[in-house]
Amino acid sequence: NRRVGLIGAMDEEIALLLEKMDQAVTQKVYQTTYYTGTLNGTPVVVCKSGVGKVNGAICTQVLIERFHVESIIFTGVAGALHPDLDIGDLVISTECQQHDLDASALGFPKGTIPFQETSVFPADPKLIEWAARAGEKLEGVQVRLGKVLSGDQFISDSGKVTELREQLGGDCVEMEGAAVAHVCHLSGTPFVVIRSMSDRADHSADVNFTEFTKLAAERSSVLVCEILEQR
Ligand code: ADE
Repeated sequence: NRRVGLIGAMDEEIALLLEKMDQAVTQKVYQTTYYTGTLNGTPVVVCKSGVGKVNGAICTQVLIERFHVESIIFTGVAGALHPDLDIGDLVISTECQQHDLDASALGFPKGTIPFQETSVFPADPKLIEWAARAGEKLEGVQVRLGKVLSGDQFISDSGKVTELREQLGGDCVEMEGAAVAHVCHLSGTPFVVIRSMSDRADHSADVNFTEFTKLAAERSSVLVCEILEQR
């Protein structure tokens, strides 16, 4: 089974995938539509999870249990945390962590899940390698490997950006990746998160997000299509 699950949180993030997909059959599970077909010759299941960690987690579990995907690629936009990342640049996840987990009052480090061995979920080395190679084909776009932080918050504050970089070592921040990673980790399903920067998570983030999400979302899905060609 070579079927790959492709998830985006918003319409813009899966638009190009649906456009390029052949013979899509649709099926609704828990109010979400799953599109089964082929993309660049690879069998895929595409879905729009909706925004946030719970939505990301549910789609991931459905893709694994009902659609039996062998791996999952998340595609979409993020706020840049690394100072060298510009709007439109791409991040390939090396690992993901939920930045909004906080049981520090009980002595647990921020971003860690109490009583659980793993809170930082590593992406699949092979998928990272394929994504990096696919990234070399994109001209005029910076593609870097990095740590993806996720939380149920839209970040628009440079103080928070500094905190997320210094405390958790994040390179970009979004709202689903680490939830997808967490679910994949529990079942040993290989995953990678691809994110293009729509903003810098600072005071201009809301304006930038509105202006650049379409461009960034498309860039991320172009990389995903390139990855499928590598396989
Ligand atoms: N997705 C895109 N930009 C974001 C931000 N600044 N915070 C959270 N998720 C995002």
